[in-house]
Amino acid sequence: MRGTRMTAADITEAVQRSFDGCPDARLRTVLQSLVRHLHAFAVEVGLAEDEWREGIGALTATGHITDERRQEFILWSDAFGVSMLVDALANPLPPGATESTVLGPFYAPGSPARGYGESIAEGQAGTPAWVHGRVLDVDGRVIAGAELDVWQNGDNRLYAVQDPEAPEHHLRGRFQAREDGRYAFLAVRPVPYTIPHDGPVGGMLAATGRHPWRPAHIHMIVRAPGYRTLTTHIFDAASEYLDSDAVFAVKPSLVREFVRRSPDDPERPAGADREWYSVENDLVLVPDAAAGPGRTA
Ligand SMILES: [Fe+2]
Repeated sequence: MRGTRMTAADITEAVQRSFDGCPDARLRTVLQSLVRHLHAFAVEVGLAEDEWREGIGALTATGHITDERRQEFILWSDAFGVSMLVDALANPLPPGATESTVLGPFYAPGSPARGYGESIAEGQAGTPAWVHGRVLDVDGRVIAGAELDVWQNGDNRLYAVQDPEAPEHHLRGRFQAREDGRYAFLAVRPVPYTIPHDGPVGGMLAATGRHPWRPAHIHMIVRAPGYRTLTTHIFDAASEYLDSDAVFAVKPSLVREFVRRSPDDPERPAGADREWYSVENDLVLVPDAAAGPGRTA
């Protein structure tokens, strides 16, 4: 080595070689690949020192702004489409199965159990929306007793975890599908909202001319013993931003019509005392064994 100058390629190779002795084969593969791609990125763009410093600054700011209520790292992952990419890699699904999408940063475990058809709104939150359907397997057979963990925002655009005025369990709840596989709950019509954009991710969006909006949607996690846990959304077909979701989470199969219903409609649920909407959404789960490797959370 003495007398020879170290090239960029030598640096990359030396760092990769430093992991050769890693006893965990998967960790070795992941880190060597990460180094290879990270170095290739720096070489490709000719990363300048001040740009490197700016990147470190953004990561530092991301750490500082992140706490148990604000997860800026997931926001980077979402805004760069990595969350959707990881989801796509983890969830290869057979035809007919309900597609998954991002969990998002506003899920809070521990939602209260609510009865069939009950409201998730603990106070005025928008136009009532009756959400109903069946939980099925890919052969169309009913799955009894599945749990639906649902959360959404209100007409002030906020999720309860973002809103200091809201009761802790506002606009969220856990529902159990009946023996006939049917579930129902009274939601409100969701509205588009911006991902948090007062931090480093917002800085990136502003600097690049991207907007921070997400189309209106209701979140759900569906769990049933013996079936792959499904994390998904119902998107409102009439919403703005379906074609430019800030986190790339829209899948056409998840878009549903919110049907306008009359206050005189005999099917009007208790709690929908004026204009209301209904949306029908069957959920099709895949058996654990058929789903292949992936997350189960
Ligand atoms: Fe959301």
